[in-house]
Amino acid sequence: MHYTELVKGKVHWIGVNDRRKRLFENMWPLERGVSYNSYLILDEKTALVDTVEDRAAGNYIERIEKLLNGRKLDYLIINHMEPDHSGEIKDIFNHFNGVKLIGNLKTFKIVEAYWGIKDNLQQVDDCDIIDLGYHKLKFFMTPWVHWPETMMTYDTTDQILFSGDAFGSFGTLDGGIFDDEINDTFFEEEMRRYYSNIVGKYSNMVQKALVKLQGIPIQAVAPTHGPVWRSNPNKVIGLYDRWSRYEAEEGVVIIFASMYGNTEMMADYIGRKLSENGVKNIRIHDVSRTHISHLINEIWKYNGLILGSCAYNSQMFPLMEQLTRELTHMGLKNKYLGLFGSYSWNGGGVKNLMSFAQEIGLELVAEPAEIFGKPSDDKYQQCEVLAQKMAEKVKK
Ligand code: FEO
Repeated sequence: MHYTELVKGKVHWIGVNDRRKRLFENMWPLERGVSYNSYLILDEKTALVDTVEDRAAGNYIERIEKLLNGRKLDYLIINHMEPDHSGEIKDIFNHFNGVKLIGNLKTFKIVEAYWGIKDNLQQVDDCDIIDLGYHKLKFFMTPWVHWPETMMTYDTTDQILFSGDAFGSFGTLDGGIFDDEINDTFFEEEMRRYYSNIVGKYSNMVQKALVKLQGIPIQAVAPTHGPVWRSNPNKVIGLYDRWSRYEAEEGVVIIFASMYGNTEMMADYIGRKLSENGVKNIRIHDVSRTHISHLINEIWKYNGLILGSCAYNSQMFPLMEQLTRELTHMGLKNKYLGLFGSYSWNGGGVKNLMSFAQEIGLELVAEPAEIFGKPSDDKYQQCEVLAQKMAEKVKK
């Protein structure tokens, strides 16, 4: 990437796009890539806020040099140590003589473990301030948003929040960098996917971070992924507040696991009955076809969830088991839950889905619907009841 955009005043965006990586954290699909955002503040003192992944860095260092125009880089602020942002720390440290690394105690343990850097470190704690001249940067410790060492940097002068992964989204910045330059529908979807996949399991810590930031005037949110929100930062702050409270839209996502189509027939029947009962947003997914990343995003989006599984070796279908395990790990809350499935020999799909429901503690809207053999009109009664009860619950 060649251009460098001005965020505000003396603050420059110097991120990069990564269109080569197929899986974020080697797990979450990047159909439309991802950006790593980094920011350079040119004040009496100069400061770089976060770096980028080394494999996507390209001419990152040259761009910093060009902007510095012969000046010294005084500080490198490390808000988060995951390698998609810390990947260039060693290069920056070696290239810009005397640069001081700003981080917290947990940051520096990892800096040393990754690169053996023990010198030129300046530790900051909650509400500490570094004075760059015009800009005064204040630090907020926001642990577990989404790793233990994460912190945010707040520019008290221009009221820019450098938020790390928080408020970030998947997707490259294809020309537009700021919220006023793009159609943000795509990025809102991808921000929820990022939130639900990466940050969601720490929703209680997100709530704590939001409380910490309450009352602070914010003119722009500058995350490490996706657009910079300078026109309507409150929009994304509001979204994070809702998502971390597990507030969802009215709708039902049905996810089924089916080997020979019987459980899928039940899914379609339930979907039709939900529609007849007035539910407008209904999504039906085959767990074998849709990646778990997108399934989790859909689950976060809607207030109703119906899971269906055939029996497989007396258990639920393995990919459904993976999904339920992940949901348990995330501590999913505030969903109305329905279950269904079919079997022809010993069963086990619905039985194990019920164990999942018990473990996660979500409200079952009705008795699980289970069919022996092929679904037929005389066997659909339970599915009809399930759809009706779910519709009553999810409609606000
Ligand atoms: Fe964008 Fe937690 O890494």
